[in-house]
This record gives sequence, C-alpha cells and structure tokens, in this order.
Amino acid sequence: AALGKHKGPLGGVRVTVTAGPTREPIDPVRVIANRSSGRMGFAIAAAARAAGARVTLIAGPVALATPRGVTRVDVETAADMHRAVLSALPSTDLFVAAAAVADYRPAAASAHKLKKTADTLALALERTPDILAEVSAHRPRPFCVGFAAETDDLLANARAKLAAKRLDMIAANRVGDGLGIEQSDNALEVLWDEGARSLPRASKEDLARELVALVAERYRLIHP
Ligand code: CTP
Ligand code: CA
Repeated sequence: AALGKHKGPLGGVRVTVTAGPTREPIDPVRVIANRSSGRMGFAIAAAARAAGARVTLIAGPVALATPRGVTRVDVETAADMHRAVLSALPSTDLFVAAAAVADYRPAAASAHKLKKTADTLALALERTPDILAEVSAHRPRPFCVGFAAETDDLLANARAKLAAKRLDMIAANRVGDGLGIEQSDNALEVLWDEGARSLPRASKEDLARELVALVAERYRLIHP
C-alpha cells in the first residue's frame, strides 16, 4: 500500500464502518427511512483512513462523497447492509457501527403500489437483524464499537447496550430537539467497561478524529 503498513495509530488495521440510514420498501415507490445523514460514519471512515487503517465503508442511501482512499459499498436495506457486513467480516479487525439501521421493516413489501382506500392503514412490521450484535457474537470477533442514539437516559441506555451487545466501546449521543441527527455538530459520551470520556460539542469531523484516536488507543491495548 502507498501508506506504510504500520504508519499511524491504526496502521495496517482493517476497519469496517457502517454509515447512514437504511431504507425499507413498503411498495415499489414508498419506503420507511430515518433522518440519518451518514455524516458521522463518513467522517469516522475518513479519520480511520487518515490514522493509517484500510477502510471499508458500508453506506446506506446518503448524499455524501466517498472519503479519499476508502472502499465504499452502497446498500439500501438493513438486509443488504447485513449481507455486506458479513461478507466484509473475515477481513475486519475493527468494526464501527455508525449506521442508523431500521429496527423494523414491512413484513411483506407489496409488488404493486398501494392504493388509498380505507381511512386508516396499518402496516405489519418485522424486526431486522441486529448487525452489530451479530458481529460482536461472531468468532473470531473484531474489536466492536457501537453507537447509541438516545432521546432519554443517555448514559444508562448506552451502558445497557454496551453490555447487552458485549461491545468494546460505545459512543452515545443525544438525538431529537435539534440534536445529533440532521445536525453538523454533535457531542459524544464514549463508554467502555472500565472507563468513559466526554467529547464535547464539535463538528462531526472533529469528533470523528477524537473518537478514532480514542478507539485506536483502546484497540492497541488488545492488539499492540
Ligand atoms: N445496530 C445494528 N443493526 C440494527 C440496529 C442497530 O447494527 N438492526 C447498531 C447501530 O449501528 C448502533 C447500535 O446498534 O451502533 C445501537 O443502535 P441503536 O438504534 O441506538 O440501538 P438498538 O440496539 O437498535 O436499540 P433501540 O433502537 O431500541 O434503542
Ligand atoms: Ca435502533
């Protein structure tokens, strides 16, 4: 590689990042989606690359340019993202799940455009696979960094996710009310088993650099 194999805090480390929303079809013209811009995940991919990593970025539908030197795989649905992550898994040392994956999808997408008839319409939804939980349960297992987007009880919910998914680290951010999603600024509470660090409000690009530095520090304790 042009970048020396061991240059930078993540030199030679194979990093896979998920980013953006997923989009779940209701019918040929309609989807269930969310407000994720993908900007945090793209900034993490760029920062990991700058730290010397070999980066694969698995991106839901977003309007963002691919960071220089990063391999990008575009996906649409949670099922597509799940497949792409599993196929990258054998060559992943460090996994960062920054995507806002849909938790539910229509149980059966209609092949035909739904017509408006009744006054109300109920959609049957089913759970999507939890990509991060599955990666973390996989053996051998990459170093796993998750996100927790919360409107309430930020730290308690993030600690619970760190434990439930057996993650190495989690980055918690408040969302809603002009925070986090659809914003260019953010703030993160980064947690791991024995510690925590607050990354105060900054641009997503600056936060991504700080988060990657912190992740690299923890990663190198396990893989010197
Ligand atoms: N995640 C994932 N696959 C899913 C859902 C979530 O990989 N199907 C990942 C996200 O990328 C994030 C972490 O899991 O890194 C937590 O996502 P979040 O939505 O905050 O939590 P959930 O576990 O989905 O729980 P809930 O939405 O109920 O809070
Ligand atoms: Ca969720």
